[in-house]
Amino acid sequence: MRLLSHIACLSLALSLNEAGKGHEHHHGAALDRCKGMEMDAIALNEHGVPYFFKGDHLFKGFHGKVELANASFAELDEHHHLGHVDAAFRMHIPDAPEHHDHIFFFLDTKVFSYYNHTLEPGYPKDIQDVFPGIPDHLDAAVECPEEDCKSNLVIFFKGDDIYHFDVKTKKVDEKVFKGMPNCTSAFRWLGHYYCFHGHDFSKFDPMTGEVHGRYPKDARKYFMRCSNGEYTTELFKNHVEREKCSRVHLDAITSDDGGNVYAFRGHHFLRVEGEKMHADTIESAFKELHSEVDTVFSYNGHFYMIKDDKVFVYKIGEPHTHLEGYPKPLKEVLGIEGPVDAAFICKDHHIVHIIKGKTLYKVDMQANPRVPSKEIPFTRFKYVDDVMCGSDGVRVVVGGHLYHFESIMAMETAKHDPEPKSVPQELFGCDH
Ligand SMILES: *[C@@H]1O[C@H](CO)[C@@H](O)[C@H](O)[C@H]1NC(C)=O
Ligand SMILES: *[C@@H]1O[C@H](CO)[C@@H](O)[C@H](O)[C@H]1NC(C)=O
Ligand SMILES: *[C@@H]1O[C@H](CO)[C@@H](O)[C@H](O)[C@H]1NC(C)=O
Repeated sequence: MRLLSHIACLSLALSLNEAGKGHEHHHGAALDRCKGMEMDAIALNEHGVPYFFKGDHLFKGFHGKVELANASFAELDEHHHLGHVDAAFRMHIPDAPEHHDHIFFFLDTKVFSYYNHTLEPGYPKDIQDVFPGIPDHLDAAVECPEEDCKSNLVIFFKGDDIYHFDVKTKKVDEKVFKGMPNCTSAFRWLGHYYCFHGHDFSKFDPMTGEVHGRYPKDARKYFMRCSNGEYTTELFKNHVEREKCSRVHLDAITSDDGGNVYAFRGHHFLRVEGEKMHADTIESAFKELHSEVDTVFSYNGHFYMIKDDKVFVYKIGEPHTHLEGYPKPLKEVLGIEGPVDAAFICKDHHIVHIIKGKTLYKVDMQANPRVPSKEIPFTRFKYVDDVMCGSDGVRVVVGGHLYHFESIMAMETAKHDPEPKSVPQELFGCDH
């Protein structure tokens, strides 16, 4: 990774110059990305969480503390003792299963391929053997899938040389990206392409290298949550826009005592506070859970998050801390075998309603042990994605449809389904 010779990061007392490459290590305790930092490499992991590499350290997600990179990727250290990664990217090509979701690291002349934090057999290899035509000692790399680049490409950066590498044909196209700074790391996030240089970044067109709009911008304001700042940056607006109008079914939905709504979908969640909306990865806020929760309900200042046959319990409020001793088996916590479809508690009550297939169970959270006290048939819907209950009634989410009932009693006894509403419009204020 090219390090700009004029950057002196006094707080770290590091000498970040070309000659100093690889020598600025073991100051992890002092590494604070909020003071401004030029990253060596950025890549998503297989859960879509961004990893920022700096020296022999690693930042996972947009906030949180630094870790030693070798704790997650041991061999990077063993093989080279270089203490830094030149470039990294995550291959995301479902029709290339041997590489799909692998993270590739570039160190000097070598390339490492990791899956699930495990080095693939035969790696490290020479860059030439895996990416013929691509030079050693790279500065940055980023994947560009078919949907953005017409074919599945990896874009490599070295100085101002740009290479489009076609994953399938292995053809290399040298490009000239006029008007773009030399990137020290590059990153695809939510369908956009970012070149990082110094403390700043620029958004670019992966085909032409054109930079539109007012760049560079300070990476700390967009890619790192440094103050208790809001994610009201352009980046998260894009994300929020995409999530709030998405028609992909929700996994889970709940609201907290303050009336804020939390919606979970795949690897992401949205928090809706009145007019304000935040989006983030589940992995970064609910690390232990990773992704793809089945249902979530709130009780007594905590989220109960059910995934398969396990229950994760997080304190509501930033950061969401995971309660010790969890996850626990669902059977132990609520007396029911997983998986379940939906679980919800109405405000000021302590009865959790659990829908599993065609049965609705009621479990008293104050009982000990907790076991279903009542089982009633639930046949109104063929299936439900999740159910949320608030002071103004019960909302049932079935695919893109939302059904509103005045109360649980009304849901159980209503003769007809209420008129379905659109999930994105009703819950997230999507206007189309
Ligand atoms: C990681 O590196 C640190 C120092 O850089 C070393 O003390 C530690 O033993 C290494 N851990 C592993 C798992 O290799
Ligand atoms: C990932 O690695 C962990 C331990 O390193 C293992 O338990 C798990 O089964 C692996 N998952 C996959 C999908 O290979
Ligand atoms: C970008 O890289 C080229 C070498 O490829 C170098 O000549 C040029 O000075 C670099 N520009 C900046 C602004 O560092």
